[in-house]
Amino acid sequence: MKILIINGPNLNLLGTREPEIYGGKTFEEYFSHLQFKFRKLELSYVQSNMEGEIINQLHSANKEFDGIVMNAAAYTHTSVAIADAVKAIEIPVVEVHISNIHAREEFRHRSYISPHAKGVIFGFGLKGYDLAIESFIEEKA
Ligand code: DQA
Repeated sequence: MKILIINGPNLNLLGTREPEIYGGKTFEEYFSHLQFKFRKLELSYVQSNMEGEIINQLHSANKEFDGIVMNAAAYTHTSVAIADAVKAIEIPVVEVHISNIHAREEFRHRSYISPHAKGVIFGFGLKGYDLAIESFIEEKA
């Protein structure tokens, strides 16, 4: 099974960005853990700070991957274009957020992506990515 992880803007700064909210690990460190834990799967990971690039990644992943785990970061709350791309593709997208977006500022409560996602996981730190990947495995079982 092939799963693509897409991380949006500022998530390249994990480890140093607001560690009290997002923790002290870089995503590269965490991705090594994911690759080991899910070594039976083919995991890929991309990060972009640009909306259009995220949309292109969603389009090119369509039919190439069995599923997508996406943390669109701040674009979650602003991007109709990314939401439309999630709606347009045929493979399932699980939306992940490291923090509990509903326990934070009001503007983080709205997700344009959630209505088109297969499911949403938030508030469990980086472990949310594990949970999202597991949801695909259980799906196939
Ligand atoms: C985030 C939550 C967003 O509100 C924020 O803009 C992020 C990260 C999260 O993973 O908790 O950059 O998606």
